[in-house]
Amino acid sequence: MRLEIQGLTKRFGSFTANDSIDLTIEPGEIHCLLGENGAGKSTLMNMLYGLLDPSEGRILVDGEPVTFSSPSDAITAGIGMVHQHFMLVPVFTVAENVMLGREHTRGPGLLNRAKAAQTVRELSSRYGLAVDPDRLVEDLPVGVQQRVEIIKALSHDAKVLILDEPTAVLTPQEIDELMEIMRSLKAQGTSIIFITHKLREVKAVGDRISVIRRGRVVGTADPSAPEAELAEMMVGREVKLVVDKDAPQTGADVLSVENLTVVDPRGHQVVKDVSLTARAGEVLGIAGVQGNGQTELIKALLGLVRPDAGVVRLAGEDISRYGPKESLDAGIGYIPEDRSHDGYVGTFSVRENLILDLYRSPEFSRGPALRLDAISQNADARIEEFDIRTESRETPVSSLSGGNQQKVVVAREFSRPLKVLVASQPTRGVDVGSIEFIHKRIIAERDRGTAVVIVSTELDEIYALSDRIAVMYDGRIVGTVTPDIPREKIGLLMAGVADEPTEVSA
Ligand SMILES: Nc1ncnc2c1ncn2[C@@H]1O[C@H](COP(=O)(O)OP(=O)(O)O)[C@@H](O)[C@H]1O
Ligand SMILES: [Mg+2]
Repeated sequence: MRLEIQGLTKRFGSFTANDSIDLTIEPGEIHCLLGENGAGKSTLMNMLYGLLDPSEGRILVDGEPVTFSSPSDAITAGIGMVHQHFMLVPVFTVAENVMLGREHTRGPGLLNRAKAAQTVRELSSRYGLAVDPDRLVEDLPVGVQQRVEIIKALSHDAKVLILDEPTAVLTPQEIDELMEIMRSLKAQGTSIIFITHKLREVKAVGDRISVIRRGRVVGTADPSAPEAELAEMMVGREVKLVVDKDAPQTGADVLSVENLTVVDPRGHQVVKDVSLTARAGEVLGIAGVQGNGQTELIKALLGLVRPDAGVVRLAGEDISRYGPKESLDAGIGYIPEDRSHDGYVGTFSVRENLILDLYRSPEFSRGPALRLDAISQNADARIEEFDIRTESRETPVSSLSGGNQQKVVVAREFSRPLKVLVASQPTRGVDVGSIEFIHKRIIAERDRGTAVVIVSTELDEIYALSDRIAVMYDGRIVGTVTPDIPREKIGLLMAGVADEPTEVSA
């Protein structure tokens, strides 16, 4: 099937998220959509999948104009989509999830279940999508859940499959497996729209690349084009894929974690006997696939969850029992993973968010009164210094773009004296230009003598920043290595493949 997009435009109020986009997806091609965060890729796909109404333009299937008023229209036309966030029901089996929302689900449950299981098996063997139809989705690794989503789309006879940032949640090995699956789909005539911002993946599997920037298609390219060229197309200027930094001048152990164990509310051990240290003036990267205990480890460091066992020390002081406020006051800076939840108050202005937990400091208050002038001056200075793109300092943070929201958090945390900086996914959802900026500031903080702990699921980010890398898998640190180790080795550690813990000191 041939899918054409002509002049497709989507406006949200006065904001144009997609500006007259033209694209053609040829039968059996892997068409990569490359673009930084916020470029408008998901918006475009949501129009193709009947989730959003185009403001202008049209979609043609095999030359015929079509209108999709819901995903079921798109599915009927042969379009399938695997979303950035999976839409599976965790407590259902694979087969149950695949048959959810299908016409033939009405009638005796058993029969349909058997039919669904059979469909799953057929698709499994046809496309090399190994998955057991009877397993509960919640028990499956993320990579397998994704296969279930793909099977679900294929079970509706998708001729064009949209994969929206499918590799963001996968280990390097799972990414390789997904690419194999994509090749097999293509070999059998399915077209794939593959969205990613990782150039390596585009080059490995793409037939054609369309680059989207600020809602427009800025060009098409061949996967053999040099990475630097693609990156430049993506952001509209030359980007540095590596961070300039000198060798670290490391000092004493500032943060030390000894035999830390955290049990989650469901009673599972999510952090298992973790010990690590971060020295003054170094960046310790914590690598790992999402969901291997990193979040809980960080929360324990910040006093956001109580460890079940073990000790956390900050410059020798036991802070294991500190709450979040005490931890911040003791000199820990925090860039949270979920900034909309923990990082800022969306309804508050940029100005207010820039002093969120600092408002009691003498700089910003005199007794019970706030020093509004000082607070405004601080805001103007930070907006300038961190290049926060906002209409004014009074704009609510919720209406800034993701990258600028993150800059507000970074600006606030970096404008107070820190002993330790803990940054979890510091550039998630941030455009490439802001990534570069935030990385530079993190290194500057390191060079001021702060012990920096970075948690990231992006290996490129871990490599760019870290002086040492600890790899987390299944709640444990399975290896501590230096950044000269090959990616594949870290990939194996991230996938829990290495038998023996690796120990390399810096
Ligand atoms: N429902 C919406 N309302 C308002 N703005 C939106 C909506 N959906 C997306 N946007 C905005 O459109 C832009 C493009 O978003 P998106 O398509 O999700 O980008 P991408 O998938 O390329 O990261 C962003 O600035 C985003 O904030
Ligand atoms: Mg998106």
